[in-house]
Amino acid sequence: MTMQPLLVVILAAGKGTRMKSAMPKVLHPLAGRSLLGHAIALSKDAGATRLAVVVGPDMAQVETEARRHAPDASIVVQHQQLGTANAVLAAREVIASHSGDVCVLFADTPLLTAGTVHHLRQSLGQASGVAVLGFHAADPTGYGRLLIDGAGSLLAIREDRDASAAERKVTLCNSGVVAFRTPKLVSILERIGNANAKQEYYLTDAIEIAREQGLPVAASTCTEDEVLGINSRDQLAVAEAIWQRRARLKVMRDGATLIAPETVWLSYDTVIGRDVVIEPNVIIGPGVVIEDDVTIKANCHLQGIDRKVSTGVRVRKGAEIGPFARLRPGADIGVEAHIGNFVEIKNATLEQGAKASHLAYIGDAHVGADANIGAGTITCNYDGFSKGHTEIGAGAFIGSNTALVAPVAVGSGAYVGAGSVVSGRDVEAGALSVVRGERRDIPGWVAKSRAAMVKRSAEKK
Ligand code: UD1
Ligand code: CA
Repeated sequence: MTMQPLLVVILAAGKGTRMKSAMPKVLHPLAGRSLLGHAIALSKDAGATRLAVVVGPDMAQVETEARRHAPDASIVVQHQQLGTANAVLAAREVIASHSGDVCVLFADTPLLTAGTVHHLRQSLGQASGVAVLGFHAADPTGYGRLLIDGAGSLLAIREDRDASAAERKVTLCNSGVVAFRTPKLVSILERIGNANAKQEYYLTDAIEIAREQGLPVAASTCTEDEVLGINSRDQLAVAEAIWQRRARLKVMRDGATLIAPETVWLSYDTVIGRDVVIEPNVIIGPGVVIEDDVTIKANCHLQGIDRKVSTGVRVRKGAEIGPFARLRPGADIGVEAHIGNFVEIKNATLEQGAKASHLAYIGDAHVGADANIGAGTITCNYDGFSKGHTEIGAGAFIGSNTALVAPVAVGSGAYVGAGSVVSGRDVEAGALSVVRGERRDIPGWVAKSRAAMVKRSAEKK
């Protein structure tokens, strides 16, 4: 079947007051990406050729987030939240200029999959019409109900507040996702009134109007999980748990071992290769790539991108991380490199075979192949005003408890003696640099000093 061009209209105008947040609901993150970001990604996966995002007034942040994910989207403002049909009408001009299917999605339904949207459009058949995505709710309270007649035709959708006692017993509910294939969409929306319990313009009333106009109306269904709508933080946590379960399964099916999958947290864009082993309690933020044969031992935090550093984290083939390691934005861990316990890496590249096995901070640095960073090494990269770079050459050996005061370079193959504070001049390749107070050993000092103290204290009595 050849598919029509697809316009997706994402409704994101609600404030989401039940989130009790200064941030609009659709900007709250799930698996490291905003709810709106998920809705936009889904629209693209579902084959949207055009996208319209309906935002509320004074929602500049929502608009920015929409543009970040979809620079070509039409952003339209719904000035007053008068209901879902009114929200779709905010995109009236985009809809009127589009010929093909129009699919309406809510921005607060992040678990929906492209396959389900595809299936919904297929239920439209070859002809024009309207198709609604329904699901069987364990507890239908609050949802609109799909009213089906004896012959299985969808007659109407009744909102919970407007439903009779008998209608409330129906468990087949409206997900909110609707597909339209009709040039009459704008006129149908314009005919929707607000004579209902909430005095809102309900998109769901489009079903009855479409039927009156002789358009075929269909319903397809999906699982309740997929259309979980997020209105509160507890629902956000439920959605996160479902999302994580799906993502862990995928990673394992693609050839990674998760010893305790339920303790590993992934992000929407996590890339994990084959024969990777991830031990318990590992958190992976957005922008992380883990190549084949890597082992991430227990209790590591791989942060990925943040606002300042957009290069993410890469762990290359065969590297070993942890236990208890922290990889911050811009950490690039080379092939077969080792990062051990209580080591933090930020904005630094470690080349093949480099090692920092215990207790170190490596930030704004480049570490050459096979260099060895001793326990307690710190790159002092910040002087309170600006950041400085540290260069550590290939095969260099940095003794324990060394402070490298950036900007500074240690040449390839050079040694730095334990306990050194290296600042100012660079260390030449192949040289030994030791920066310490001179050692003094005074034989017999303890006994002499004790005797003197005993004598003084006797004289005082
Ligand atoms: C809606 C459906 C209901 C369905 C349920 C599924 C209607 C009338 N009801 O109810 O049948 O079972 O979703 O979760 O469609 N929005 C706007 N502008 C508005 C109003 C809403 O943009 O003026 C957006 C909201 O931000 C939200 C979505 O539309 O993303 C749904 O609105 P909401 O008020 O949450 O509808 P429900 O009462 O949950
Ligand atoms: Ca809702």
